[in-house]
Amino acid sequence: MIAIHPSILSADFANLAAELARIPSADAVHVDVMDNHFVPNLTLGLPVVEAIRAATSLPLDVHLMIDDADRWAPAYAELGAESVTFHVEAAAHPGRIARQLRSHGARAAMAVKPNTPLEPHLELISELDMLLIMTVEPGFGGQSFMDEMLAKVAAARRASDDLGGRVAVQVDGGINRETILRAAEAGADTFVAGSAVYSAADPDAAISGLRQLLE
Ligand code: DX5
Ligand code: ZN
Repeated sequence: MIAIHPSILSADFANLAAELARIPSADAVHVDVMDNHFVPNLTLGLPVVEAIRAATSLPLDVHLMIDDADRWAPAYAELGAESVTFHVEAAAHPGRIARQLRSHGARAAMAVKPNTPLEPHLELISELDMLLIMTVEPGFGGQSFMDEMLAKVAAARRASDDLGGRVAVQVDGGINRETILRAAEAGADTFVAGSAVYSAADPDAAISGLRQLLE
């Protein structure tokens, strides 16, 4: 199953409710939480994610680019996010975080930055519902897809397949009409797209366009 998750990082933050209403065919809304420590950018936190939760019936895919994931991740599951992704680089006890996320009813996901190898962290995979392979350096929308990450996407796919394909493989960064095919061929099944969706005159048509490319 293919899933398209538009990132509201590229939406108009002063009109979030209206921006959410422009993507009815999204499989989930990707919400980028940044703290200006883990990444050199600051976006939004718990109160705004709670408001987004109330403003849409779409599932929320919360991507935490914050230090001290152990402290903060469970709260995003508690407020009703469908999935919560923490960065392994910011987690002291990743297995424990994953178990807490699941105990709050969320899907548990772990992300790796471009320079972080995946293999040493795959021992956790049985506790996870999704692996996020960053295909740009996290922090900003509108960057170019890093083709060097395709091997990591393929390794994530193999690890998931070993578990019967239960674990989704997400890519985030630089996904557009050109790069989505390469990511899919490497084994990704869940695609975050920020600028490719929200820079389009009709964001929902942009989602359909990406979906059609993969059919
Ligand atoms: C970047 C964020 C992404 C961002 C992607 O750190 O994690 O979710 O919104 O934006 P695009 O699709 O424009 O690369
Ligand atoms: Zn993201």
